Amino acid sequence: MTLLVTGASGQLGRLVVEALLERGTPAADVVAIARTPESITDLAERGVQVRRADYTDPASLDAAFVGVNRLLLVSGSEVGQRIAQHANVIDAAKRAGVGFVAYTSITRADTTDLLLAAEHRATEELLAGSGLPHALLRNSWYLENYTGQLPTVLEHGAVLGAARDGRVSAATRADYAEAAAVVLAGEEDGHEGAVYELGGDHAFTLGELAETVGRVAGREVVYRDLSVADYTAALVAAGLPEGYAAVLADSDRGIAEGALFTDSGDLSRLVGHPTTDLETALRAAVVRSAA
Ligand SMILES: NC(=O)c1ccc[n+]([C@@H]2O[C@H](COP(=O)([O-])OP(=O)(O)OC[C@H]3O[C@@H](n4cnc5c(N)ncnc54)[C@H](OP(=O)(O)O)[C@@H]3O)[C@@H](O)[C@H]2O)c1
Repeated sequence: MTLLVTGASGQLGRLVVEALLERGTPAADVVAIARTPESITDLAERGVQVRRADYTDPASLDAAFVGVNRLLLVSGSEVGQRIAQHANVIDAAKRAGVGFVAYTSITRADTTDLLLAAEHRATEELLAGSGLPHALLRNSWYLENYTGQLPTVLEHGAVLGAARDGRVSAATRADYAEAAAVVLAGEEDGHEGAVYELGGDHAFTLGELAETVGRVAGREVVYRDLSVADYTAALVAAGLPEGYAAVLADSDRGIAEGALFTDSGDLSRLVGHPTTDLETALRAAVVRSAA
């Protein structure tokens, strides 16, 4: 059984490859795709088949998918380009006779009004139309979206956002990656037709995030709730491109309305252990930032 992971040079994809190996898939049965194979030579050294492919280049996908049985499509990072890119991957998977595709989507992609979800919804529709057996891994937010902001939060003594008292079911990339590895390897069952709403066991508000950062860092940290327009402006002032800032602020608007909340329990059920909680992730981030 040959298992392929796209985006293996990225943060999530690499963790999926690691999780496959840790859970016992032989390295020779794993194909890791990257635009820049030289960035994952360490995986090649461990026996993983590293192949070059670009979502924008169908011929490269055809070459990379030869002999692949099951494939994980990690959603691309080029917002606005992704429907065409993902269509190329799905079409190539079909041409190659791939038997199963898992796709990393977003919470309730079929019904949510999050701006960020439009490309995920379109990709889910492409998969449904392709006739390929598939599973949807609808990931909520990454905890790293917050732990990665730790130095800025501590500098200002504040978490900024526009999520009001909405709860977000954030989980670590490592937990999402482990779930993806379980599904890709077909552990338990084939997962064909499954729709998993994946998120952390304990959702939190951004107020609780600020309080937990304060406790972990031994400092006072407050949550400053802004309007969507003011939060967009703050993100632009911090150096984000306008379009990206608008999408992020819209995601906070969605969090306020529960768009990234799930209590399905699918993530801990798939990985077979509780998800990493906010405080544990923050403590690890504090240790890393002090190192
Ligand atoms: N749930 C969340 O909170 C959240 C947050 C951010 C993103 N996401 C989504 O989750 C995905 C994975 O997250 P991540 O943290 O691993 O992102 P990441 O570190 O930016 O990795 C993205 C991966 O996609 C690859 N990629 C992008 N465009 C490609 C193309 N045209 N052809 C082939 N590969 C391409 C990148 O390859 P290169 O190394 O060659 O660039 C990289 O391996 C993101 O791409 C995004 O869709 C989710």
